[in-house]
Amino acid sequence: RTVEEQKNRLASKLFGSPDVISINDTLSELFRKAINTAYPNITDPPVVVTVSSNPKFGDYQCNSAMPLAHQLSNSGTKVIPRNVANEIMSKLETSPLVDKYEIAGAGYINIYLKRDFGQFVLSNWLMAGDVPPPYVKKKRVIVDFSSPNIAKEMHVGHLRSTIIGDSISRLLEYLGHNVLRLNHIGDWGTQFGMLIAHLQDKFPDYLTNVPPIQDLQTFYKESKTRFDEDEEFKKRAYECVIKLQAFEPDITKAWKMICDISRKEFEKVYTRLDIKVTERGESFYQKYMEAIVKELESRNLLEEDNGRKIMWGEQHGSGVPLTIVKSDGGFTYDTSDMACIKHRIEIERADWLIYVTDAGQSLHFQMLESCAKRAGILKSFHRVDHVGFGVVLGEDKKKFKTRSGDTVKLSELLDEGLKRALQKLKEKERDKVLSEEELKMAQESVAYGCIKYADLVHNRNHEYVFSFDKMLDDRGNTAVYLLYALTRIRSIARTANITKNELRQHVHNTPISLEHEKEWKLAKTLLKFPDVILGVSEDLCLHTLCDFCYEIACTFTEFYDKCYCIEKNQAGEIVKINMGRLLLTEVTAIVLEKCFSLLGLKPVKQM
Ligand code: ARG
Repeated sequence: RTVEEQKNRLASKLFGSPDVISINDTLSELFRKAINTAYPNITDPPVVVTVSSNPKFGDYQCNSAMPLAHQLSNSGTKVIPRNVANEIMSKLETSPLVDKYEIAGAGYINIYLKRDFGQFVLSNWLMAGDVPPPYVKKKRVIVDFSSPNIAKEMHVGHLRSTIIGDSISRLLEYLGHNVLRLNHIGDWGTQFGMLIAHLQDKFPDYLTNVPPIQDLQTFYKESKTRFDEDEEFKKRAYECVIKLQAFEPDITKAWKMICDISRKEFEKVYTRLDIKVTERGESFYQKYMEAIVKELESRNLLEEDNGRKIMWGEQHGSGVPLTIVKSDGGFTYDTSDMACIKHRIEIERADWLIYVTDAGQSLHFQMLESCAKRAGILKSFHRVDHVGFGVVLGEDKKKFKTRSGDTVKLSELLDEGLKRALQKLKEKERDKVLSEEELKMAQESVAYGCIKYADLVHNRNHEYVFSFDKMLDDRGNTAVYLLYALTRIRSIARTANITKNELRQHVHNTPISLEHEKEWKLAKTLLKFPDVILGVSEDLCLHTLCDFCYEIACTFTEFYDKCYCIEKNQAGEIVKINMGRLLLTEVTAIVLEKCFSLLGLKPVKQM
């Protein structure tokens, strides 16, 4: 049997599960048991276990004694919280995670983690060279994100959706869910009428010669102006819509051409940002829309309203009804989403649907969910999340626009990022030590990393100010700071001429050093990783993962300031290597790298 196998057996014996333990869950379980034993008459007692805010109060804390005492007193048994805490303590089983408990203040129970446990878990991560995901029940998840509209601009809002959606997908894939990433692009609808009519006028030979449209946005604007000003054009545009919906070949071809031009632009952005997403736009649901309308109608779920056909959710009259059929007989965004949700649940067999769009659409998704429940498409076991986000503001705190008031083009924004990132690297004289290729890699990683990170680090529910100056700052919670931090951490072992593989070998005979207060503090931070990941998979708020990265980097700095890993003599020669500490630096790098990969950041070898 290999050492690994032995260790894993020991792990299962000690901890009941492999080496990716949610400390929160394990401690909560422990306290739940103790509380149930101490107070068998209280059903569903409050079990509150959290990370301690202050090291004075241990590593974790159980704060259940106060609400319990309250509950007991209300039901006639007068007790003070401290006695309740004592009672709970006396019923706690021993745990391999816990070094000791103590009661403090009014009745808090402070929990101190055991170093052996930390030693064991971190060694396993080191041996694997990776952090295995915590266990979750596997689901079929559809993440609907990015979803720009053809011919309209792909604006910073879509950039937010792209970045957030990609990161959520990465995280759920890591947890082992079966994730389908879908780009629900707006490639259907009345705007195509005017686009096609304009195409016919401007490029009459479009069927034989691919029209050389460079800038679809300008093309869109031109056709919109004509649509608004020219009645005859407007009429033709409507006719084109009807023909498109009837799948007339020439018109369909024109539609395809326009979509292709847009698609190429979108794809450039995805390639640059390393984002994978499968296109399945609104047009895909055309035939399903007809079917769902018939179904809803035959089941009497639709209602007449001024010539429209509308649908209320489970509570009639609450919210805003969906418009399923317009008064002119046409379908809407609502119709396509009803068809789409049915397809995703019944054909794609998803258990969990995630929609990433601006917060402005939250009522739409609320009503969609409610209507889908009423129609029996969604069952109680399905999970639906609208992952909303706030608007992107410019540095003037107004909606993010160019100086001339136009929407900022994403490709230009990325170019600007590249330019600024290079400036930054040159400022730090990186161009003097890196090869041309390395410099280019660092430039891209910094530019795209900082744009993604600046988005993810903010609570997505809030609006955020887009500022290259801020995101390229190398102090504070920024991508630049973190990328530097990881590179620096990795360079420590390199200075000592020790490779990753050698480090991995050393784990078998050298314990990770956890004696020093700062070493142990760093280790405890790393051990929170499974809980952070599980938390994000619940609330889908990635800023907590960003904050965690920053906490790791800061705690590492504290450790590195106090604890020598390599000692050099005056001549600069290495005289002593503290292997146990190098192992701690390596496992820090492994965790940080894992977080980066979930956030879509690419580490830089040299910076
Ligand atoms: N195209 C829409 C927009 O730009 C977003 C689509 C989101 N997905 C959905 N199934 N409705 O706002």
